[in-house]
Amino acid sequence: MARRSPPPRLSARRRDERARGGTRELILGLETSCDETAAALVTADGRVLSNVVSSQAELHARFGGVVPEVASRRHLELVIPAIDEALAAAGATLDDVERVAVTRGPGLAGALLVGLSAAKAVAWGRRLPLVPVDHLHGHVASLFLRDDPLEPPFLCLLASGGHTLLLDVRDHGSFETLGGSIDDAAGEAFDKGARLLGLGYPGGPALDRLARDGDKAAFAFPVARVPGLDFSFSGVKTALLYAVRDLGEDADERRADLAASYQHAVVRALVERTLEAAQQTGAEQIAVVGGVAANSELRASLAGARFAPPDLCTDNAAMVASAGRYVAAVPYPGYLALDVYASREAA
Ligand code: KG4
Ligand code: ZN
Repeated sequence: MARRSPPPRLSARRRDERARGGTRELILGLETSCDETAAALVTADGRVLSNVVSSQAELHARFGGVVPEVASRRHLELVIPAIDEALAAAGATLDDVERVAVTRGPGLAGALLVGLSAAKAVAWGRRLPLVPVDHLHGHVASLFLRDDPLEPPFLCLLASGGHTLLLDVRDHGSFETLGGSIDDAAGEAFDKGARLLGLGYPGGPALDRLARDGDKAAFAFPVARVPGLDFSFSGVKTALLYAVRDLGEDADERRADLAASYQHAVVRALVERTLEAAQQTGAEQIAVVGGVAANSELRASLAGARFAPPDLCTDNAAMVASAGRYVAAVPYPGYLALDVYASREAA
């Protein structure tokens, strides 16, 4: 990604917009919690002007998962070009930015530090306020963007590579956790299942594609039912492992059936628990966010639910900027000592 200067013509257009009394406040969002280096510009009323995501997936593929040290170093190389590209694509300059929103946690500490440090530098250099954003709040806030934002209250299933949570979202700025996975996250289950089937990393999208050619009733993969509104996905992964082992040489030609049956088991568990939670809380609206919200069977199975737009399901900075609209900003220069948090417990 080459550094680019913003085209002056577009920047002038933004100045015209200001003069006409249009949106004045642009939020620069930054996200570096895992293996995506992302920068976005979002208006105060939730329009996404640019959304740049530099995925490192290829870099980590040969290791079969994200290597934290490698991720941090790559974020360092990509974060400034990503900001430049987001500004250029929005036709904006840093003069148009009124606040910087950045993911503070949870995630990989070293990776988060790169984004937070970049955000501090940009904000401090221009005496702007900084908004520390919780990554999970970011995923929820992906629903508050675009032409038809979802209004709380709603029940939200957040299913990603790092988390599987049922959230009671009462307002734009906060939520309560009703349940979560006691072991693997749903995205992790997809990735590990994909690995057993010889698909690359991250395997969720590839498994989703392969499953379309298979029979979801070919294998019965049980998913453990745990008490309350929690999930457990470690057992279903073991069931797939045994099935592949028992099939031996035949496993290869049954890959599509294995993928379809496995996906069906994970999706069914997600759907059943989500509907139970909706019944218990009396929620009238259900929403689904996070990387796994891109899954085609899940989208078809929860037909009445609102799904995050496909390009905002996996990690991105537009959702972080969106969350930054509902969290109190830390005024200049009080944020310089802010630290990241790797887990929710440490928040
Ligand atoms: O939200 P996300 O980008 O990162 C985290 O915050 O963890 O989610 C990434 C996860 C990965 O595990 C990926 O395999 C999964 O979302 N994923 C999918 C699909 N697209 C992405 N899983 C199943 N089906 C998909 N279509
Ligand atoms: Zn995420």
